[in-house]
Amino acid sequence: MPHSDPIETALRERSSRLPGFYQLPLAKRRATVARWAGLTHEEIALLDGGLDAGRADAMIENVVGCFGLPVGVATNFVVNGRDVLVPMAVEEPSVVAAASHGALMARRGGGFTAGSDDPVMIGQVQVLDIAAEDLDAAAARVLAARADLMALADSRSETLPRLGGGAKAIEVRRFPDTPAGPMLVVHLHFDTRDAMGANAVNTACEAIAPRVAAVTGGRVLMRILSNLADRRKAWAACRVPAAALGRTGHPGDAVARGIVEANALAIVDPYRAATHNKGILNGIDPVVIATGNDWRSAEAGAHAYAARDGAYRALTDWRLDAATGDLLGRLEVPLALGTVGGGTRSHPLAAVCLKVLGVQSARELAEVVASVGLAQNLSALRALVAEGIQNGHMALHARQLALAAGATGDAALRIAEQLVSEGQIKGTRARELVGAGGR
Ligand code: MEV
Repeated sequence: MPHSDPIETALRERSSRLPGFYQLPLAKRRATVARWAGLTHEEIALLDGGLDAGRADAMIENVVGCFGLPVGVATNFVVNGRDVLVPMAVEEPSVVAAASHGALMARRGGGFTAGSDDPVMIGQVQVLDIAAEDLDAAAARVLAARADLMALADSRSETLPRLGGGAKAIEVRRFPDTPAGPMLVVHLHFDTRDAMGANAVNTACEAIAPRVAAVTGGRVLMRILSNLADRRKAWAACRVPAAALGRTGHPGDAVARGIVEANALAIVDPYRAATHNKGILNGIDPVVIATGNDWRSAEAGAHAYAARDGAYRALTDWRLDAATGDLLGRLEVPLALGTVGGGTRSHPLAAVCLKVLGVQSARELAEVVASVGLAQNLSALRALVAEGIQNGHMALHARQLALAAGATGDAALRIAEQLVSEGQIKGTRARELVGAGGR
């Protein structure tokens, strides 16, 4: 029987399960992803960074250079039945490995099922100088002028309303008692289709502001989007057979129960929830960055949503299926991401990463990103409730020490293994081993 190369088989079958991908030399990894995504030579060249100082100079102010980040590709993802390779731009070792491992465990239960809201952003118009007893009447006048305000909001965009986006609703929120006196906030719900849409929403808010002032009789101050994009959520869920979670000395059913218990602490304790959610964002941010999206917005939205009921909690839900013993996970998070406009187009590498992902819309991108967040959390919790997180971290740290000491390729892996087996994960020992011919 002819020997078959598992990577070739995966490419042929368009499987994101690329066995041994992490052990390939960088050039082979790059060639594999290029074939997977059908990248051109120009696109492959962009994987070296994609940004020169000239282009950077056109992106922000006072440019003096570019800051590079490694781009890794997480494997094993299946989202809504589609195999996906996930580019991640991140400086932290073990993040890409953990995402791939989380996806592999979820894959044993069929992968991730994910969904998302319509891409509706919220824009806020702040109105002051209204007496507390007049707030209700002013709010009612805003709602009565709803159709007018929505038409005004749409008047500044030629394309969005034509594509089914644009103004969708007006809401009014009352704050009778703030440190600056009573105020109203008018919310404009604005569908930005495949754009993140900050500019479109802010423009629409500025367009309706004079009419809001006239209708309320108040004074309009700020006109700006809200990063608590809770009309634009994405969610991902997975079912993990307990057997996929087990390790020597850590039976799968105990690990599954441990994950539910670990999640419980992050539901009641903000000190744990902050770390738990940071781990989820370890998965989310690198994809947001790789696709040229605004990761500060993703962070702000996630944390604000985690505190939506007044206490800061886990963004995930993990429970056991009583009938099968499977572990069931779910993550829900606001994700204001675009596949057009902004950094997705101005950063040349972002377009390449979007091509690798193969997503057809901003909603599909958000669904993949939510799945990566859930995979990352699964992987972290599995390690935390079993052998502990440092085991894997230290192995990767050892590899970094070997590389920093001058080892390359297979030698770096060998030296890293030796550092771990000796229990001496130290730069001095790595340099000794390299000096002894380990390069
Ligand atoms: C480290 O970057 C992330 C973790 O701390 C997340 C967690 O504790 O859930 C491992």
